[in-house]
Amino acid sequence: MSETVRVLLSEEEVDKRIQELGEKISRDYAGGQVRLICVLKGGVFFTCELAKRISVPVSLDFMSVSSYGNDTKSSGVVKIVKDLDESIENKDVLVVEDIIDSGRTLSYLLENLRRRNPRSLKLCTLLDKPERRVTEVKVDYTGFEIPDEFVVGYGLDYSQKYRNLPYIGVIELN
Ligand code: IMP
Ligand code: MG
Repeated sequence: MSETVRVLLSEEEVDKRIQELGEKISRDYAGGQVRLICVLKGGVFFTCELAKRISVPVSLDFMSVSSYGNDTKSSGVVKIVKDLDESIENKDVLVVEDIIDSGRTLSYLLENLRRRNPRSLKLCTLLDKPERRVTEVKVDYTGFEIPDEFVVGYGLDYSQKYRNLPYIGVIELN
């Protein structure tokens, strides 16, 4: 079986939208600071691009939560593979994710983080597939709502491939 990638969102479209999100986040956190929590690995490209466009002081931490195998299907199993390095107590925390699909990963993660008593806890995702939602998640900042198609690029992978594409593409199996 061979795979091809069709462009869904160009590099220019993604960059422009991240700029807008960065400006909005900068306004919303004006006078404060923000702790960005990058959800590895998929969130890493988006987190870097977003962080560069936020004008309030930013600190970064990383977390890795797995809910998927090397497949395009959700396993429904969520586990913390790597936890944060620092406490988020009394911090204004913004979780940065690549995509929200069923919502299982994020609802688990947000619940877990909420118990650590951050001052505020918000969620920013580059992509959202609302049609696929199984568990409700409140999303504060969304880059793009996309249809129910398997996408790659900008951090998103298919069997660990394509994360480095500078655009969002739809993977097509032939
Ligand atoms: P959820 O728990 O079903 O919301 O899954 C979220 C995670 O599944 C994301 O952080 C991605 O790692 C992965 N995922 C969901 N949809 C896609 C996709 O279209 N392409 C690549 N990874 C995806
Ligand atoms: Mg992810």
